[in-house]
Amino acid sequence: MIKLAPSLLAADLLNLEREITKMEQDGVELLHFDIMDAHFVPNLSFGPALCEAVHRRFPNCHLDVHLMMDNPVDYIDRFADAGAHTLTLHLEALDDPAAALGRIKARNVRRGLSVRPHTDVRLLLPYLDCLEHILIMTVEPGFGGQKLMPEQLDKIRFLRANGFRGDIAADGGVNMKNAALLAEAGASVLVMGTAYFHAENSAQVVQTVKELSK
Ligand code: DX5
Ligand code: ZN
Repeated sequence: MIKLAPSLLAADLLNLEREITKMEQDGVELLHFDIMDAHFVPNLSFGPALCEAVHRRFPNCHLDVHLMMDNPVDYIDRFADAGAHTLTLHLEALDDPAAALGRIKARNVRRGLSVRPHTDVRLLLPYLDCLEHILIMTVEPGFGGQKLMPEQLDKIRFLRANGFRGDIAADGGVNMKNAALLAEAGASVLVMGTAYFHAENSAQVVQTVKELSK
């Protein structure tokens, strides 16, 4: 089953309630929060307060939280309290990935790790058994609207070839043109910011993704 996870980064930030309502009407259950701290990536985005507000107003929405920040371990509890369903930390920002994943599991939140384009995917191998979710950055993290880096698909193929059966998300430059290729490579979650929130017909985007699962 291929799931669509619209990235809030590309939504109309002055009309979030309308945007998320439209998402739910389109039958989308995941909402991807790109949390950026202006240190780990050269951009500053949202915090736990926004996640909490969205969770209160849309309790059935699966908050797929992607922490692009230094010291993400310091924020595990804050985002768990805010209603995160999946919490993805960057391997590059962790001193002790196993301990961080244990902290996420202790909060009954789905455990995710992500790697930037230039990080060797083999570094994830020791953690495959303690992950529900792996997020492969298909652009350099920090901004939406970039072009997908096709060589990153090899990381998805590598993880599937090494027996990872959890969710693998692709994040960055994902659109209707490359969605099928990503699904074939083994991606099960497509993070789409621009391609969803700036689509002429967002319901059509959802339908196209659904058809990839057939
Ligand atoms: C990069 C961001 C983007 C965003 C999706 O740090 O994480 O990848 O989620 O942006 P689009 O879909 O507009 O490329
Ligand atoms: Zn993301």
